[in-house]
Amino acid sequence: MNSRIEEIRQAIREFSESGSQAADLFRQNFTGKNGSVSKLFDDFRTLPKEEKAVLGKLLNELKNEAAAKLEVLSSSAGLAEKTNRNEDLGLPGDSSFTGSRHPISIVLNRVIGIFNRIGFTIADGPEIEDVWHNFDALNMPESHPARDMQDTFFVQMDPGFVLRTHTSNVQIRVMEKQQPPIRILAPGRVYRNETISARAHCFFHQVEGLNIDTGVSFADLKQVMLTFSREMFGSDTKIRLRPSYFPFTEISAEMDVTCMICGGSGCPVCKGSGWVEILGCGMVDPDVLQNCGIDQNKYSGYAFGMGIERIAMLNYGINDLRVFSTNDSRFLSQFSGINS
Ligand code: PHE
Repeated sequence: MNSRIEEIRQAIREFSESGSQAADLFRQNFTGKNGSVSKLFDDFRTLPKEEKAVLGKLLNELKNEAAAKLEVLSSSAGLAEKTNRNEDLGLPGDSSFTGSRHPISIVLNRVIGIFNRIGFTIADGPEIEDVWHNFDALNMPESHPARDMQDTFFVQMDPGFVLRTHTSNVQIRVMEKQQPPIRILAPGRVYRNETISARAHCFFHQVEGLNIDTGVSFADLKQVMLTFSREMFGSDTKIRLRPSYFPFTEISAEMDVTCMICGGSGCPVCKGSGWVEILGCGMVDPDVLQNCGIDQNKYSGYAFGMGIERIAMLNYGINDLRVFSTNDSRFLSQFSGINS
């Protein structure tokens, strides 16, 4: 038996077949059910005890050597199979999908960036707000039509709370806590009880700005709005302020900019007028300052608020508000590579 072991060991070492069939052949000859190594084990069982003690060790060594060789043959066969495919290894690798920023975030970040550079810092406030901060302190008493059930989501368990209908609640919260100078920007989500359509949604995003200090005038507001518009929409942009009304500003205005699609010559987006409305603004009503404990004889200021969806729609030529919240990756992937 000793010499038989030696013979087979030799045969294993000399086995030099290669390619994908080599492992199978090796298994057939040696380690498989009818292979010579397996047969040796059958013979081994019939040996007397004393011989078993000596030969058992040799036989196990042989078995391990065969297993190791089989392992090498199988893995190189697998490798051969892989590299045998007709692949051009010089081709560039598969590109991976890196995702994209949401257009609302892109526009929001740009607006924030512009106002950051001219000294506005970010302020935050709750989305579930009490009626004082969302309405009363902003000169919108209980009888005010904007508080109507049709526009406002009230919190069912407590009618003293609403989902904020605008970011103006943040003005109040900041002024209650801080004395001027105040120069803040409040971006965030707001809610209105609207039927969802291409032009209206039950939630959207606003950015609110507030600047309170000594001697702040409407001229300051105008200049800041012009600077913002030129940075945001291009250096040729013109602005137009139209008299308007908000309960919490006096005087109030709505601001138009020259249409970013046609540059002011008239197109379907601006309905031929050359102008598009982008925000509401005005001088903070002295009563609102007083509501927040700020001396209206010493301080004055302006506020403005804009809808981010509206600006994104104008900028990117989007005509249905719903695409912002349907998470359709075909829509969203169009914004990949825009990182601001
Ligand atoms: N809060 C107003 C709105 O939601 C926008 C606004 C903000 C107007 C600040 C004037 C000043 O329509």
